[in-house]
Amino acid sequence: MPSPAPDKAPPAPRGLHVMTWGCQMNAYDSGRMVDVLATQGFHEVASPDQAELIILNTCHIRERATEKVFSELGRLHGLKRQRQAAGGRLMIALAGCVAQAEGEIIRARAPYVDIVLGPQTYHRLPAMLRRAEAGERVIETEFPPEDKFDYLPGEAAPRGPGGLTAFLSIQEGCDKFCSFCVVPYTRGAEFSRPAAAVLAEARGLVARGAREITLLGQNVNAWHGAAPDGTSWNLGRLMRALAGIDGLSRIRYTTSHPSDMDDDLIAAHRDLPQVMPYLHLPVQSGSDKVLAEMNRRHTRAAYMRLVARLRAARPDLALSTDIIVGFPGETDRDFADTLDLVREVGFAQSYSFAYSARPGTGAATRADQVPDPVKHERLQALQALLFAQQADFNARCLGRTLDVLIVGPGRRPGQMSGRTPYLQPVHLPGGPDLTGRIVPVTIEDARTNSLGGRLAVRPHTPEQEPVSA
Ligand code: SAH
Ligand code: SF4
Ligand code: F3S
Repeated sequence: MPSPAPDKAPPAPRGLHVMTWGCQMNAYDSGRMVDVLATQGFHEVASPDQAELIILNTCHIRERATEKVFSELGRLHGLKRQRQAAGGRLMIALAGCVAQAEGEIIRARAPYVDIVLGPQTYHRLPAMLRRAEAGERVIETEFPPEDKFDYLPGEAAPRGPGGLTAFLSIQEGCDKFCSFCVVPYTRGAEFSRPAAAVLAEARGLVARGAREITLLGQNVNAWHGAAPDGTSWNLGRLMRALAGIDGLSRIRYTTSHPSDMDDDLIAAHRDLPQVMPYLHLPVQSGSDKVLAEMNRRHTRAAYMRLVARLRAARPDLALSTDIIVGFPGETDRDFADTLDLVREVGFAQSYSFAYSARPGTGAATRADQVPDPVKHERLQALQALLFAQQADFNARCLGRTLDVLIVGPGRRPGQMSGRTPYLQPVHLPGGPDLTGRIVPVTIEDARTNSLGGRLAVRPHTPEQEPVSA
């Protein structure tokens, strides 16, 4: 980009406020939209009141997620009217999965929204803005033929705490069509970024201070990208290349589908010390009948075999999962199978949901929907078990010495906070000099959602060493 003429002052910064809902891919996309708009003179502001442009980056996964967007839009409409009455201007852009799924409805219901853009079009934001400023109501929700990543101006920045951790989207969309899920419709067909682009972005993030990178995709372990050597790589191979980046200490990836977990990827857990011993592996249900009706493409036994192979490769591996209760036709017996699977696996973390019928998905119109009270009763029972497992996993960390990446100050003075290999937040006494280091911390306090500890007396050992059991 040409630098401004020396006699011209740079344009005044314009306030941008982004609100983000949904998964990590949306968090990544919000960051990239900020990068794109920085090239147009925008900078992020903390509150909508200071913004000239507000972007709502939305999630459509469950009904409640979508409802939140409409209530937020109503609030922002009020702000826009006030601003206009005072002679000012506020532009509202609706991005993400609700925009993709309900763009036309929003255009009709909320005419005060200036721009509606789907998750695959945000590289075109500068042009959309110019059109909106000229008074056009912009809607761009097609899946464009070009790869947005090739056209994104601006460089990705690590946006996790302290700039030490970063997300990196390597794969978009989904071709699995689970019968409960909107993602194949909101994000489009599965697509993998080429290895060279991923590696370049990862090197850039590390150069800007990232020590940990989480690779993202709705089906991240289905990634298969064109490689610099002219072949096609799988995720295991990509991780070996990433592990060669100097200064990148921790690699994570999410979300994986059980049927795409291949031998190379399992071997990466065994062979690469940078790959953290923690894996999010959604199972959704423990009943073979429900799994088949969900179109999950694996059985309960296949999931259990996979867990055994992963644990054989990396004995200290901890697992997290997603579970849906109350899928249409789910009986008490099916639900008991889910509880039983949870007991058998033992999860360190989990996300569980009551089934929400989503427009356009296969299961939504089934006649045998489970009544709400039954769903909620099952959800409570499941969550009691899952939370107990989480508390138990944390309690079993007591007395262990874990490698902790220190990301910034803790809640209290004289305290720092960090993350274990298992993503547990940890507080410990210490000063800012620890920021960005990976240090051994002996765990002395365990709660359901966090740990406390102190620097271990043993000398610093690199992350590479397996955590002591
Ligand atoms: N790609 C990931 C999941 C994406 S959505 C995967 O394949 O596992 C995140 C989670 O939301 C899902 O794992 C599922 O547990 C939950 N979810 C998706 N659709 C849902 C629905 N209609 N009702 C309730 N939960 C849902
Ligand atoms: Fe949705 Fe299934 Fe694709 Fe995951 S694999 S995004 S749950 S359709
Ligand atoms: Fe939600 Fe879209 Fe992510 S529906 S979960 S924001 S892919």
